[in-house]
Amino acid sequence: MDVAQRVKNLPPYLFAEIERKIVKAREEGKDIIDLGIGDPDLPTPDFLVERMCREVQNPENHRYPSYRGLGAFREAVALWYKKRFGVDLDPEKEVVALIGSKEGIAHFPWCVVDPGDLVLASDPGYPVYKIGTMLAGGIPLPLPLLPQNDFLPDFSSFPGDFLERVKLVFLNYPNNPTSRTATIAFFREIVQLAHRFGFILAHDLAYSEISFDGYRAPSILEVEGAKEVAIEFHSLSKMCNMTGWRIGFAVGNAELIGALGRIKTNIDSGIFNAIQWVGVEALKRVEEVLEKILPVYTKRRNLVVETFQRLGFDLPYPKATFYVWIPVPSGFTSMSFAEYILDRAQVVVTPGVGFGKYGEGFVRVSLTTPSERLQEAMERIEHALGG
Ligand SMILES: Cc1ncc(COP(=O)(O)O)c(C=O)c1O
Repeated sequence: MDVAQRVKNLPPYLFAEIERKIVKAREEGKDIIDLGIGDPDLPTPDFLVERMCREVQNPENHRYPSYRGLGAFREAVALWYKKRFGVDLDPEKEVVALIGSKEGIAHFPWCVVDPGDLVLASDPGYPVYKIGTMLAGGIPLPLPLLPQNDFLPDFSSFPGDFLERVKLVFLNYPNNPTSRTATIAFFREIVQLAHRFGFILAHDLAYSEISFDGYRAPSILEVEGAKEVAIEFHSLSKMCNMTGWRIGFAVGNAELIGALGRIKTNIDSGIFNAIQWVGVEALKRVEEVLEKILPVYTKRRNLVVETFQRLGFDLPYPKATFYVWIPVPSGFTSMSFAEYILDRAQVVVTPGVGFGKYGEGFVRVSLTTPSERLQEAMERIEHALGG
C-alpha cells in the first residue's frame, strides 16, 4: 500500500531501541518501572465518575453533541478563566470545546498555516506542535529552550526579517518536558513581539494547575492586547485526572477560535455531551480536586529531586508540572543514559532528544507512577548509580 507522502514524512519513532529493550526485559520476567509516561495514575475523582453515571442515562445526551461544545460547558470555561486568571471570555465567540487539547493543537495549524509557512515550535517540546504543522504543510522550525536561558526562548537570537516571515509560534508554560515556568513579564514581551512582527501565538497551558509551593501559573491572556494575537489551549486531563475522557478547550482570539471551530465542524462531531456535563462539574470544583492531588505530586517531586541531588546531579525543585528534567552526566547522551538506567535499574525514563534536538543532554522523569513504585525506582537508581 502506498501511503501518502505526509504520512511518510512523519518523524520515525525515536524510542524503538529502548522499546525493544523494555519488551525483552519484560519477556525475561524483569520488573520494569515505567517513569516515561505523563499520565496520572490517580483516578478521576468519585464525584465526577458519579456525575457521568447519571449523565450517561439521560437520553438527551445520546444524540450528536454541538460542534463548538455545549453552551453550559463553554460558560463554565469562561467562569473558570475569570475566577482563576481574571480573564474575561465571551463563551459564544472566545471558547471552543476540544476532544482533549491534543486534538485542538493538532488541528490548529490547519486554521492559520498555508503550505510553506514558517512555524516556530518550542524545542524541547510536546511533539504535536511540530507534527500538526507538518500535516498542514507548514515548515516547523525549532524554538530553542536552552538551560542558560532557564528554558525560555531568546527571540533576540532571530533576525527581524526572519520573524516577519514566521506565521505561528507555539509556546508552553509550565513546560513539558523541562518543567520550567514563565512570568507574566515574559508573556508581555512575547505578545509585544507578536504585534510587532505579525505572528500568531498559540500557548499551551495544560499544566497550569499542577504547581507547587504556592506558585500560580499565569495565562498569556492576562496580558493586555494578547487576545488580538493569541489562542490558548487547556485541558481537564492533568488538572482533574481525566486523560482518558478526552476533554479540553481553546480560548482567546475570536477569529482564531472561530476558524478552529470551523475546521472541527468539518472533521469531528464534538465531545459526548455526558462528558461535557462532567466537565462543567469539574470546572466548578477544580480546587477541591487539586487539594487532593497536589500534596501527592509534591512528595513525589521532592523524592525524585532529592534522590538525584544526593547522587550529585545539579537540578532545582520544579515549580510546576509533574515532570523532573534531569541533566545527564558527562559522557552520556540522553539516549545512552536512559538505556544505562534501564539496563542497571530496570527503570524507564524518557530521553530528552525525543522532545527535539535541544532536549539532548537531559532525561525526563514523570511523577505519575504510584508513590511506592516511584520510591522503589529511586532506590534502584540510587543503587545503580553508586549512591
Ligand atoms: C504540553 C502538553 N500539551 C497538551 C497535552 C495533551 O493533553 P490532552 O490532549 O489530554 O488534553 C499534553 C499531554 O501530555 C502535554 O504534555
